[in-house]
Amino acid sequence: MNERDSAAVATMLRGKGYSIVENELDADVVLLNTCSIRDQAEQKAIGKAGHLTKRKRKNPNLILGIMGCMAQNRGGALIDSLPDLDLIVGTQKFHRIPDHLDHIIATLNGLGPKPDSVVDLEEESGSQNTIKSHDEETVQVAAFVSIMQGCNMKCSYCIVPKTRGVERARPMEDIIDEIKKLVYNGTREVTLLGQIVNQYAVREFPFVNKKSPFVQLLERIHEIDGIERIRFTSPHPIGFRDDLINCYARLPKLCEYLHFPMQSGSNRILKAMRRPYTIEKFGEIISKIRAVRPDIYISTDVIVGFPGETDEDFGLTCQAFEAFGFDMAYLFKYSMRPGTTAERLGDPIPQYIKEKRNQILLNILREQSLVRNKALIGKVEEVLFEGPAKKGVNMFMGRTRGHRKVFVQATPRLIGQLARVKITNVTSSTLMGELLLEGVESVENFVYA
Ligand code: 5AD
Ligand code: SF4
Repeated sequence: MNERDSAAVATMLRGKGYSIVENELDADVVLLNTCSIRDQAEQKAIGKAGHLTKRKRKNPNLILGIMGCMAQNRGGALIDSLPDLDLIVGTQKFHRIPDHLDHIIATLNGLGPKPDSVVDLEEESGSQNTIKSHDEETVQVAAFVSIMQGCNMKCSYCIVPKTRGVERARPMEDIIDEIKKLVYNGTREVTLLGQIVNQYAVREFPFVNKKSPFVQLLERIHEIDGIERIRFTSPHPIGFRDDLINCYARLPKLCEYLHFPMQSGSNRILKAMRRPYTIEKFGEIISKIRAVRPDIYISTDVIVGFPGETDEDFGLTCQAFEAFGFDMAYLFKYSMRPGTTAERLGDPIPQYIKEKRNQILLNILREQSLVRNKALIGKVEEVLFEGPAKKGVNMFMGRTRGHRKVFVQATPRLIGQLARVKITNVTSSTLMGELLLEGVESVENFVYA
């Protein structure tokens, strides 16, 4: 979500005549987009900002800003520790950044008194509708589309409702327009973004034939010619009903990949986390999805070391982790966040236990992921090529429908194309393969490297 917000701000700035430089040392303006989900993320951003402040002391014309969740969470207090900041912009004010910069630059050019730092953290109705523009100069084969902002859940560990505000959905027509524009510019895959996507517009739009607004949105996107793949992140077990499960049976563009945050395998801990489901209910949803899409890849989020998590609770998490056979996971060590309801529980689990539990899950994950990947050796997968690989001559990166990264020797012509790839080699996290030429859509344009 932060990547998407940063990209939207960059597009707004380009529209005003700014250019985005590759190297931050070449920049006249540096904006740090920040995350508050764990303390570590905030400390990293503060360290980086401190570093940039030193550069600003040597070059007072350098403009420095902090935007996003940490700006929202810490607000004006950031100025106390980083007095050289020019700009602090909250999560509902990204679209105001170009105007704020104009103002700051005008005063730097002597067109006004030296201003105090600009701090803009208010809530703004309709701000969810401002994250919509994409850079039209570059082709995004797979694009993120923000469909809503905020979250009304009250998970006891989570700072997001504080930093992102209450749920606000974008109008369906705006989302469809944005995706059509993306398609025109070469996009073939979209990932819909929201803190709790399956709650999309539940207050704003009616259910139709027992279909939630989110399911209606999926259907509309499915009809768009040129979109080949649809993904979304993140859904919540609450509201993951049969209408959404059935989408996996009837919408072929909906990829066989689901990110489905579990958080813990212990009902006691789920309750303390204020996650309103049991692990049995969570498993039931997975079983129902697998019944209609047996080959689905499922990833999850797990927090280890939530206050009060015993060895027994953690054992239940391991058990569930294996039983559901997650193919990928984001594993987090609990971090106490200010203003959350779990704050009063303190952070009693020692770091070394969190590390140990994290490592145990990581080992299970690697094993499960490797087994799944090994089963692909010799098989043919549909791959959407996104761009050059970071390493290797003539190597290109694409993804399978199951969201696995695949590296293949090819030519740039393949970017943006769906191709059939035979998997030859795997690790626990990636696949290597060979292009099957008959699978390339426009073979007449294709020259093998
Ligand atoms: N500590 C650790 N992990 C957290 N997450 C959210 N809040 C915290 C926290 N305080 C994790 C959850 C969530 C993911 C985005 O981040 O697993 O799903
Ligand atoms: Fe945070 Fe829970 Fe909302 Fe996810 S659903 S953003 S974990 S409060």
